[in-house]
Amino acid sequence: MKTIIYYYTGTGNSLWTARLVASNLGNTTLHPMSLIHKDALNQADAIGLVFPVHMWGVPHHVLNFLDAIDMDSSKYYFAFAVNGGQVSRTLIQLQKRMANSGARLSLGYDIVMPSNYIPWGGPGPADKLEKLYLAARDKINKVTPRIALQQSASMEKGPLWQRILFTACYAMTYRLIPKMDKDFWVDDTCNSCTICEKVCPVENIVMKSGKPEWLHKCEQCLACIQWCPKESIQFGKKTPAYERYHHPEVTLKDIVGTTQTQEDK
Ligand SMILES: Cc1cc2nc3c(=O)[nH]c(=O)nc-3n(C[C@H](O)[C@H](O)[C@H](O)COP(=O)(O)O)c2cc1C
Ligand code: SF4
Ligand code: SF4
Repeated sequence: MKTIIYYYTGTGNSLWTARLVASNLGNTTLHPMSLIHKDALNQADAIGLVFPVHMWGVPHHVLNFLDAIDMDSSKYYFAFAVNGGQVSRTLIQLQKRMANSGARLSLGYDIVMPSNYIPWGGPGPADKLEKLYLAARDKINKVTPRIALQQSASMEKGPLWQRILFTACYAMTYRLIPKMDKDFWVDDTCNSCTICEKVCPVENIVMKSGKPEWLHKCEQCLACIQWCPKESIQFGKKTPAYERYHHPEVTLKDIVGTTQTQEDK
C-alpha cells in the first residue's frame, strides 16, 4: 500500500505522530499541508491527515487544505487528531466535512500529547510529558496495523458534555482566530533572526525594521512564540513567565523544511 500523510504542526507533536505512523506503515511519504503535491496524492492508495486540535475542532488550515485537494472516493482515508486531552468532536467534524466531498474517513484516532497552548501556561513537568509521549507511542504502534489492513471504525471522540459545550465554543471562536495575533508582542531581547517569519505556515509574519509584525491571517499554531530562540515573542501579559514547548525529537529545521520521505520497507 502506497500511503501519503499530510501533516500540520506548530510545535512538532503532529509531525512526530505522522513520522511514527509512516515508519510503522512503510512505503509512506510525508508532506506538510501547505504543500499539496498533486502527483503524489494521485499515486497514493491511502491518505492520512495528522494535525493538532485547535479550539476543540478542526483548524482552519486543515479545512483550507481539504478545500484545495480533489477528494477521490476510491482512496482509503485515515486521521490522527493530536491534542492536549480534549479532542471533543474534532474527528466527527472532519468525517462529515470529508463526506460532503465524497470521501469516507475510515479511521480517526485521538492522540493526547503535551499542550502547546501557552496563553494558558507551559507544558508541565518533565515526568508528565514523558508519560504522555510513551502512551502516545504505544497507542500509535497499536493502531497502525489497522490502517495497513484498511479497517473502519467509529471516530474517536470526547465525552458528550465536551462535545456539546466545546462545539459551541469552536463555533464562537472560529471566526476570531485570524485576528487573535493582535495579542502577540515582541520584547527587547529580539535579535532580528527572522526564525518567527520562517516557521509561520501561512506567511502571517513580516519583518519590519528588524522586528516581526503579524498580518492578521493567523492560524494560532503558536509556532512563532514557541520556536523563537530568544523567547522574545509574548502573547498577552502572562507568557513571559511561561516555559516554551516543542516536541523534543522535532527540530527547528524540521519545521522550516518542507517534505520528508520515509524509506520504503
Ligand atoms: C490555538 C490552539 C488551540 C488548542 N485547542 C485545543 C483543544 O481544543 N483541545 C485540546 O486538547 N488541545 C488543544 N490545543 C493543544 C494542541 O492541540 C496540542 O498541544 C497539540 O499536540 C499540538 O500539536 P502540534 O505540536 O503538532 O502543533 C490547542 C493548541 C492551540 C495552539
Ligand atoms: S524569532 Fe524571536 S528573536 Fe528571531 S526575529 Fe522573531 S522575535 Fe526576534
Ligand atoms: S503568526 Fe505565529 S501563531 Fe500565527 S500562524 Fe504564524 S506562526 Fe502560527
